[in-house]
Amino acid sequence: MDVTGKVVLVTGGGGGIGAGIAEAFAEKGARVAVTDINGTFAATEAERIGRGVVALEHNVTSPESWEDVKAAVEGLWGSVDILCNNAGISLPFQPMEAVSLDQFDRVMAVNVRGVFVGCKTFMPEMKTRGSGHIVNTSSVNGQLPHQTFAVYSASKFAVTALSEAIRDELAPFGVGVSILYPGLTRSRMSEGQIPDLPEDKRQVLSDMMMEPIWLGRAVVRAVENNELHIISHPDHLPALEARMDRLHAAFGEPAQPGYIAARMPTG
Ligand SMILES: NC(=O)c1ccc[n+]([C@@H]2O[C@H](COP(=O)([O-])OP(=O)(O)OC[C@H]3O[C@@H](n4cnc5c(N)ncnc54)[C@H](O)[C@@H]3O)[C@@H](O)[C@H]2O)c1
Repeated sequence: MDVTGKVVLVTGGGGGIGAGIAEAFAEKGARVAVTDINGTFAATEAERIGRGVVALEHNVTSPESWEDVKAAVEGLWGSVDILCNNAGISLPFQPMEAVSLDQFDRVMAVNVRGVFVGCKTFMPEMKTRGSGHIVNTSSVNGQLPHQTFAVYSASKFAVTALSEAIRDELAPFGVGVSILYPGLTRSRMSEGQIPDLPEDKRQVLSDMMMEPIWLGRAVVRAVENNELHIISHPDHLPALEARMDRLHAAFGEPAQPGYIAARMPTG
């Protein structure tokens, strides 16, 4: 898809990766709306990027808020061509039993329900039009769960699974789906995640953060080429290979001796 002139909506665009995605689409001449639960964050980023980027207040957990945002963008430019479900929250690193039910519900509401409602809001029209693209921000933890980050990892696995499933549902209608798997990237979230380390260690971690504009440019390329997986941080490959090796090694004989999987009739 040529993104020039296309209408792009980026959630959680009030900073970090969402702002990088918005900026990268704006660089390519797309018409971009950034939304955020914090309207001031969104407005600040829209002003920084310039190029006609528009800011809207938006709570991705609320279907009503999605309808308001959809109507506002359509009123400006017409149908949304590219939806980037990027808004997300995390939790402090902690053993899972320390996570409260309320924290669990909040992470799932923003990271999973938010993506689900966003997709549902725009999928029917994209299917009818026979064009469109959805980009969902997962995480490297959406392929590699991390100890002390169980609930966040689970929410990002859900984003990965949901996205991969709808990619196959939407492909026959000419609608694309991509998944972004960021590793450590500069943002309010990641800066806030740096634990109480001595200044020199904090500096090392800060220096390791990728700048969000580069993730944005990778997203634009993936939409242009209709690619499913967007790997911004390839340094995680050995860990993923080790995980896959462990999974492959667990495939042996069926639990029921002699069991043969039935083949579903095709056609
Ligand atoms: N920064 C990283 O290292 C990193 C790594 C992997 C994945 N991610 C993912 O990238 C995405 C962007 O995160 P970021 O690092 O740029 O963090 P960020 O905190 O800078 O950006 C997230 C934005 O989402 C907004 N938001 C929170 N709840 C919302 C809601 N209910 N409705 C609308 N907006 C809401 C926040 O106000 C914030 O501006 C998230 O999905 C995050 O999980 C980030």
